[in-house]
Amino acid sequence: MSEQTAEVRQTIIQLLSHMRDGKEVRDYLNRFSGLDQERFAVIKVGGAVIEEDLEGLAASLAFLQTVGLSPIVVHGGGPQLDTALAEADIKTERVDGLRVTREAAVPVIRETLTRANLALVDAVRDAGGQAAAIPSGVFEAELVDEERLGRVGEPTRIRFDLVAAAARAGQAPILACLGETRDGRTVNVNADAAVRALVHELQPYKIVFLTGTGGLLNEAGEILSSINLATDFENLIAADWVSGGMQLKIEEIKRLLDALPLTSSVSITSPKELTRELFTHAGAGTLIRKGEKIFAVSDKSELDMSRLDALVAAAFGRPVMAGYWEGLTLDQAFVTENYRAAAVTHKMGELVYLDKFAVMDEARGEGLGRAVWQRLVDYAPRLIWRSRTTNPVNGFYFDQCNGAVRRDEWTVFWRGPMDPADLAPVIEHVFALPPTLEDPA
Ligand code: ARG
Repeated sequence: MSEQTAEVRQTIIQLLSHMRDGKEVRDYLNRFSGLDQERFAVIKVGGAVIEEDLEGLAASLAFLQTVGLSPIVVHGGGPQLDTALAEADIKTERVDGLRVTREAAVPVIRETLTRANLALVDAVRDAGGQAAAIPSGVFEAELVDEERLGRVGEPTRIRFDLVAAAARAGQAPILACLGETRDGRTVNVNADAAVRALVHELQPYKIVFLTGTGGLLNEAGEILSSINLATDFENLIAADWVSGGMQLKIEEIKRLLDALPLTSSVSITSPKELTRELFTHAGAGTLIRKGEKIFAVSDKSELDMSRLDALVAAAFGRPVMAGYWEGLTLDQAFVTENYRAAAVTHKMGELVYLDKFAVMDEARGEGLGRAVWQRLVDYAPRLIWRSRTTNPVNGFYFDQCNGAVRRDEWTVFWRGPMDPADLAPVIEHVFALPPTLEDPA
């Protein structure tokens, strides 16, 4: 990095750190910069985004470079190919979702994808970034079924040298989905297959899909914020509001994540929201993780107390007081399989008192805390809890509660239908509970 770019980078990081979510931004930047850059992210861009929002796309890719991150970009060219093939009077036929590619179409495809590739590279350069055009030469492929599909290839090997050379020179490698057979024939590689092959090889921390919609949509047409495959996959695939296309997308993503470590994740977002998605916990788009199963326990002996203890200490930045676990009359605990998030309750008459709700810092932004919370409120329709007034999670609690009272250092929250006459003494009782965590250092 030249001295000047290093300075620009510093300024931008400073600016970002002073935004509302400054600490989050800094933490994510550190996390991402600490990775080998070829393992940071694979970003897939659909052909439609190149056509419709080339400038926005280029600006957001150039921005990542400015802060010292270099993702590997793979793009498709569906709409561009449709137009070019129609102009050349070649009919497009699809079998199993793959574009049948007859001999005559190959030069058109090569030409069109290369043009899309160069357009994106130029745009990134115009936006102040550095990018390398790698339209072909990366995916070694085998013909899938020449008779049925023509020149469609399935990648068998990644030739990484072109990509590595670009990355070494500080340029974002921009790849099109053109492959070659071992004997040098150009083949059309489906973009999902290309991403899959790259991801297997590189084991990236993030996989990002940039689309026009900017995420997967829920029943009401709003962007679904996160999906935890371990708990949501089956329900989603079976839900009647999930379209066939969305089903395929989710299955494809599951297939990608199954071959990656638990820490890797997929984000679907738009060029405009990419920065917010990557650098904040809340993100802007749909985050999909392999996730963890959540189990419900009502018997203390089924809990791994030392892991639960470590989770609470890590989440709150201080340990529970001596004797706390021994003194707890457990009602229910909801814990993720790797003890990265948990909710622990005890009974308070008819009500359920939430004793601890803890999410590991590294697991924030995954939707894991929200999934545990959902289990909790499904279990306890009438819930009461308290939180230090300085707790940064209170924003979430205010969203979730039906009412709250603040007194000095504590705020007491409740949720669900409550009779005010019953509630008042319980609130007093909760305010009067002794502290359960060691004092902040
Ligand atoms: N910035 C984090 C990441 O990229 C969390 C993103 C959360 N996004 C979401 N749509 N819930 O992994």
